Amino acid sequence: MSWICSRCRTRFEHAVARCPHDNKRVVRDLAGRDVAGRYTLKELLGVGGMESSVWAAWQSATHRSVAIKLLPEGDDAANERFARGARIASNLSHPNITVVHDYGRTDDGALFLVMELLEGQTLHRALRQGPMPIDRALHITYQLLRALDHAHRRKVVHRDIKPGNLFLVPHPDDPDFVKVMDFGIARFIEPEADDPADLGEVTTNREVCGTPHYMAPEQVAGGNIDHRCDLYAVGVVLYRMLTGKLPFTGDHRELFVQHLHAPPPPFAEARPELAGEPDLEALVMRSLAKNPDDRFASAAEFRTALRRVRGRTGTLSGDEETPFSGTLSAFGSDASTVVPPEPPRSNRAALWIVLLLGCVAIGVGIAWWLKGPVETAPPPPDAGAVTIRPTMAPPAAPVVRDAAPPLDVAVPADAALDAGAPTPRTTAATAPHASRRRPRVA
Ligand SMILES: Nc1ncnc2c1ncn2[C@@H]1O[C@H](COP(=O)(O)OP(=O)(O)O)[C@@H](O)[C@H]1O
Ligand SMILES: [Mg+2]
Repeated sequence: MSWICSRCRTRFEHAVARCPHDNKRVVRDLAGRDVAGRYTLKELLGVGGMESSVWAAWQSATHRSVAIKLLPEGDDAANERFARGARIASNLSHPNITVVHDYGRTDDGALFLVMELLEGQTLHRALRQGPMPIDRALHITYQLLRALDHAHRRKVVHRDIKPGNLFLVPHPDDPDFVKVMDFGIARFIEPEADDPADLGEVTTNREVCGTPHYMAPEQVAGGNIDHRCDLYAVGVVLYRMLTGKLPFTGDHRELFVQHLHAPPPPFAEARPELAGEPDLEALVMRSLAKNPDDRFASAAEFRTALRRVRGRTGTLSGDEETPFSGTLSAFGSDASTVVPPEPPRSNRAALWIVLLLGCVAIGVGIAWWLKGPVETAPPPPDAGAVTIRPTMAPPAAPVVRDAAPPLDVAVPADAALDAGAPTPRTTAATAPHASRRRPRVA
């Protein structure tokens, strides 16, 4: 049995508490181990809280690489919570949410969760390079909000949104395609007495859980929480991406006091370069409001505000949220499942042209019938005009807009900041291998 450092991957023959090189956690080297007769562990990808370790693995039946998270076995209640969390996660289906394929328990009792293997880096790692350009930060936040919108509409609250749970996957058309990880799992770590049928009405839970820097005041206070605690965490993540700093720092107790009572430092203090972005600052501060009622009511509302600010900051102009057509209760259904796809702009333009030509043809026909053939008898001044000019002609604005080059051609970098409905983008699981950095591990 050997051991391996989670940072530098140095192997040790004997157990050591910490790596002597970088003082990082050392875990058992499980490379080559079989998991549930279906997977073979290959390479350590990282370690996390709850003594978890994540491994690249090979699924022999399907000949695919996957990621497997291993967690130490808990008591029966904890194991049941894990299974429930895994079930919740595997029922979410959104391009910005990491796919969960399978879960179970190994022969020696450890819990495992099988996910799509992501390529790229966590936002946590990306932030080591300091603050991000506004456009990049908003692009990442926008995708995160899309993922949360999807989950919240299904009454699933993440409760541990933080840069370490956000993966940036380089796609051919988007270097920062966001994948949210650990849905359902944050829930697993807390004792709770909710009805299992209720997948996220977490209002009875009074345990403090989460990552202290990102915890909403109501989480800190152990009060009733709902989806808006995720929106607060999004605010912290956004504040950090923009300023390079966390709004609050200190030990756990100091952090909790600040989340509850202290206003986040203004941009002028945290990053003076952003002092000229009052709309952006107002948006971030609203998401960080102490009272959930003062925050955005939903991820969708947050996203709409983000689009408006993004338009104003000049990073995207003239682009509007796709209007939602239909009734949508706060958590009733997902817009992506009920909004019919808009026909492509070029198709709509063609439709208007056909209608216009139809009107002209009808007008000419009627004129001919009333007055004889148009080529032999010139029509009276207004003949035909009545028929050709009517309201059947398309309003000018749509024709002009549709005839213009599509916005996302003119601004390719913003193609991913698209309408609310999920795009048929390839996910990391299906993306061409050319977009992947890590070779298959088999
Ligand atoms: N599906 C995945 N694909 C690739 N790497 C992953 C995946 N899931 C987790 N990781 C890596 O494993 C590390 C530890 O993950 P995790 O145990 O979830 O940590 P935490 O408790 O901090 O959320 C992550 O920081 C990430 O680098
Ligand atoms: Mg994680």
